[in-house]
Amino acid sequence: MRLFVAVELPDEIKDELDRLAASLRGAAPHAKWVPRDNFHLTLSFLGEVAEERLSELEDAIAPVASAARGIRARLGAIGAFPSPRRGRVLWAALDAEPGRLEEVAAKTAEALEPLGFPPETRPWTAHVTLARFRVPEPVSSLLEPPVAPLAFELEGLTIFRSRLARPAPRYEVVSRLPSRRD
Ligand code: 2AM
Repeated sequence: MRLFVAVELPDEIKDELDRLAASLRGAAPHAKWVPRDNFHLTLSFLGEVAEERLSELEDAIAPVASAARGIRARLGAIGAFPSPRRGRVLWAALDAEPGRLEEVAAKTAEALEPLGFPPETRPWTAHVTLARFRVPEPVSSLLEPPVAPLAFELEGLTIFRSRLARPAPRYEVVSRLPSRRD
């Protein structure tokens, strides 16, 4: 199974991101827009994992998920990777108390490393991907619309399965942590 660990976003946040995406779509005809239901905050991308390893993964991530519960985050500005001049990924920032979300991402990576998942070499930033460009293009004009600074509390972490499909991958919840029995 192709897996990743992420933070799910509440409906009102997804609605706001969808509204933003809809308002920008006309200005970026080459972009591949993420469908509303796929919006999430990725903490760690695992790639292909055997199903038998799932409980091992859940056990490793559960303490990180418990610690993440209750963190307050809010929608932030629109940005682009690697830069607005050569936009490949258009995203919305998630802001929290400085370092809090970064710590959750770092602890997730630390928990997964002993299980054989090497940490990302690129620094992690809290972003929700809105659109991707196959050929990088200038996107400065797409960064301008104001974003409603909607806030929410993290309920924990989610292991998602990604099924590659067209026009967009399908993300299925595999487990939500902490589980009710934790
Ligand atoms: P993103 O958060 O920047 O959009 C599911 O594919 C999620 O895992 C995506 O949101 C994606 O990035 C993230 N991801 C990180 N590395 C990836 C990779 N090598 N292949 C696919 N997705 C990856």
